[in-house]
Amino acid sequence: MTKDGITIILAPLQGYTDLTFRNVFSDHFSGVDEAVAPFISTMGQMRLKPSRIKDVAPENNKKLFIIPQILGNVAKDFIFLADHLYEMGHKKINWNLGCPHSKIANKMRGSGLLMYPDKIDAFLENVLPKISNTLSIKLRLGRKSKNEIFNLLPVLDKYPLDEIILHPRTGIQMYEGTADHDVFEKAMDLSRHRLTYNGDITDLKSFHIVQNKFPDIKRFMLGRGLLSNPFLAEDINHILIDKNKNDRLKKFHDDLFDNYQAIFSGPAHLTGRMKGFWRYLGPSFKDSKKQLKKIFKADSITKYQDSINSFFETKPEFN
Ligand SMILES: Cc1cc2nc3c(=O)[nH]c(=O)nc-3n(C[C@H](O)[C@H](O)[C@H](O)COP(=O)(O)O)c2cc1C
Repeated sequence: MTKDGITIILAPLQGYTDLTFRNVFSDHFSGVDEAVAPFISTMGQMRLKPSRIKDVAPENNKKLFIIPQILGNVAKDFIFLADHLYEMGHKKINWNLGCPHSKIANKMRGSGLLMYPDKIDAFLENVLPKISNTLSIKLRLGRKSKNEIFNLLPVLDKYPLDEIILHPRTGIQMYEGTADHDVFEKAMDLSRHRLTYNGDITDLKSFHIVQNKFPDIKRFMLGRGLLSNPFLAEDINHILIDKNKNDRLKKFHDDLFDNYQAIFSGPAHLTGRMKGFWRYLGPSFKDSKKQLKKIFKADSITKYQDSINSFFETKPEFN
């Protein structure tokens, strides 16, 4: 938490902010106080393979406080998984009501459930008395319409929730358009719950716009903004460390690469994962399109590493 009482939360980004990323990120950057881990889906059969929960094992997550997230809509499966996570030592769990992807939403999971406040009501009525610790919810304004949230908030008011993390877009918007601050404000005024703001905080300017508009909001969740600028939480917290951004980014990159190399089996898997990060980080460097192209074209580990070394040798200007 900053001196101003502000908490910065790393958003769950499936395929990016896994255990490896969170640990390496915490070794290289500061200013992030906690993270919600990418979702774990409930399984009908109630089978629980260790590989599905390894990402949130407390013994592997000592560097950054994490909140596991569950995606699902069947109460008994949710209770089973949540209880397991509480038994592992977690105090908080988050329910994913925001995932916008139609494959998931069409099965009434993630943002697909937002059009059905009665189902959410029945789910919470069933689940909350049976789980042994606190629950928070991460959601969007609705699936199809921004007004869906207004039918849902009175339902959520009935239950004890740790917090509501609101990303003010609809599910069908995916990431198009802008986050709607006006509807966020209305939701904040109508809800009795603590709200956390999430969406499109990409630099200090966008952070301050949100902070000035919502002075009562103390918790901010940042996702893509931290991938494209890993220094952002330090900037928000006025932390001045080593000014040499390129050196720090290169060390962070190499550490991330080494850690993924140790766990991924094939080279394509490894370079694919690393290129994913470059899609966010790359555009933060000025005039480096040509160099970045080389990184994305690299089809072997050697070519990938060469392209990274020559990229940093050009001393690209960050931000
Ligand atoms: C690649 C990707 C993966 C995501 N995975 C998850 C997830 O597992 N759970 C979740 O609640 N939200 C997920 N989200 C949504 C983010 O947590 C966040 O709500 C969204 O990106 C808006 O915040 P931002 O503008 O700060 O990135 C994902 C978003 C992206 C782009």
